[in-house]
Amino acid sequence: MLTTEHLTAEQLYATLKNIKVGGTVCHYSLKKCAEFVPIINEINELKQEQNAVILAHSYVSPEIVYGVADFVGDSYQLSKDAMTTDAQKIIFAAVRFMGETAQILNPEKEVLIPGLLDGCTLADSINAEEVKKLRAQFPNHTFVCYINTTAEVKAECDVCVTSANVYDIVQKIPNNQIYFLPDKLMGKNLVMEMHRRGVKKNIQYHEGTCYVHEEYEPSQIYEIRMEHPQVKVVSHPECRPEVCEASDFVGSTSQMLDYMLKTDAKDFLMLTECGLSARLQVEFPDKRLVGSCTLCRYMKSNSLLDILRVLKNPSDRDRVFLSEETRLKAHKCIEAMFHYTQG
Ligand code: 13P
Ligand code: SF4
Repeated sequence: MLTTEHLTAEQLYATLKNIKVGGTVCHYSLKKCAEFVPIINEINELKQEQNAVILAHSYVSPEIVYGVADFVGDSYQLSKDAMTTDAQKIIFAAVRFMGETAQILNPEKEVLIPGLLDGCTLADSINAEEVKKLRAQFPNHTFVCYINTTAEVKAECDVCVTSANVYDIVQKIPNNQIYFLPDKLMGKNLVMEMHRRGVKKNIQYHEGTCYVHEEYEPSQIYEIRMEHPQVKVVSHPECRPEVCEASDFVGSTSQMLDYMLKTDAKDFLMLTECGLSARLQVEFPDKRLVGSCTLCRYMKSNSLLDILRVLKNPSDRDRVFLSEETRLKAHKCIEAMFHYTQG
């Protein structure tokens, strides 16, 4: 994103020095930047040699976002970026379900996942066999899956959604019987939003949660508002309904950044992973963060050294392998998302 071909430690430090979130993980000194820079420059050279691009979710470490990433965004935007790039190789610094989505959409490209912990508590909360059983139990429902699911789960569902489009897509689905999976909290938020919009839907949902977002409580918002009455609270739809209700804005990670850019407010409480708070501190230095944030151990398991390793010597574990049958079925589910977002 802010990638320079031959970056210096001073340039990297100038970009990262204002980040003060996420404990020591996201704090930078000139010395730390000097350690990163040779790895960053080697990665950027290898990318050119290999016609590779790096897609990074906003939650991964800032040295990846600002040192080597070609595309940074939310899961919806990154899935579109994966389709538009001409590169033959995609390194997906995020979690496995995002790499799988890139592979589903780009069977001819090689997709590599550097993260060592590549799971996600949502994607890991349901498997394809469970979806088949639910479909037998709810035969007249349209099965809507959040993008935070495995390719096998998508293959058993009808329409994929992301946090950027879940409400609008469910509103457009002609069937009023919806089964939403796997996020229970997003499911509850969906029920409330349909009610607010006056849309009649009978929505069942599964039991999964994101371990990062479920931790936030409305009491945190009330306490911060007492101290900072001007604060704008932005949250993700994976948070509890009571948290979303008490927020000024709810949206995908990219929509949250957009909202903060467009509003004149200066102080923000961001109820999401620390990577997004770090982006705020780098990209909008006149805005101020209040309160704290939380780290996702899966997203933060991506490192520069692992990106270098998958470029130099990828193992089978780093690659995404999908059977053609699963890929085609999952592709139909994701295509349905693009159909609803275009229409
Ligand atoms: P976004 O699509 O909003 O970036 O969300 C992905 C995610 O995993 C949030 O926890
Ligand atoms: Fe999964 Fe939550 Fe991490 Fe997002 S923040 S990748 S939903 S565990």
